[in-house]
Amino acid sequence: MNDSLEPLLLDHEIDGIRELDNKLPRWWVWLFYGSILFAIGYLAFYHVFRAGDLMAAEYEKEMKKGQEIKQRALSQFEASIDTLQPSNDPEVLARGRQIFATMCSPCHGPQGQGLVGPNLTDDYWIHGPLFKDNLHVILNGVPAKGMVTWKGILKPREIYSVASFIYTLRGTHPPNPKPPENLQPAKTEPSPYE
Ligand code: HEC
Repeated sequence: MNDSLEPLLLDHEIDGIRELDNKLPRWWVWLFYGSILFAIGYLAFYHVFRAGDLMAAEYEKEMKKGQEIKQRALSQFEASIDTLQPSNDPEVLARGRQIFATMCSPCHGPQGQGLVGPNLTDDYWIHGPLFKDNLHVILNGVPAKGMVTWKGILKPREIYSVASFIYTLRGTHPPNPKPPENLQPAKTEPSPYE
């Protein structure tokens, strides 16, 4: 028997087995009591008095706050569209190029020459030639004609980047351009006098 343990040995013995009364460190015991008190407080606060939000409610709240921030950013962007100029910052354009390659080229062609969607490199525009006209179309889409509504999918900053990028495609004359679609002869327009 190790002598140093002797004072901790209790004096009962059963079948040669003796009990070692190894005292727990004080700090450990206080931590243990503390955690019991904390559990009682926690239970009372969240489950008895229902004074705080549980995880699901907290998640809902955070998501709502996030939605509000997003909505505010979008409204600000929409309000500023008419004053925006296309960026020529290489970083913005590089981001726009990447977005165009993944999101837009399947319909507008890798060089913007047009496929299902119209040619973005020529001088003919269905919805107007101005930068802001492009921004409006990208934001709101043309659901009836197959142009995606990008707000809600792309962030305002991304919409601005991709619009700035397609602005650089104007006049680039890529091979196999899609012919302009708004060059309908005027007589096919329904006349209000007939
Ligand atoms: C699912 C196919 C599709 C995708 C993807 C798509 N577009 Fe379009 N887009 C169209 C169609 C179709 C039109 C023509 C709408 C019309 O006839 O009014 C159009 C029109 C446009 C116009 C207006 C052209 C004009 O002549 O006024 C712009 C600008 C445009 N798209 C930009 C984009 C950008 C930027 C993206 C990527 C973020 C994109 N599009 C992704 C199909 C698409």
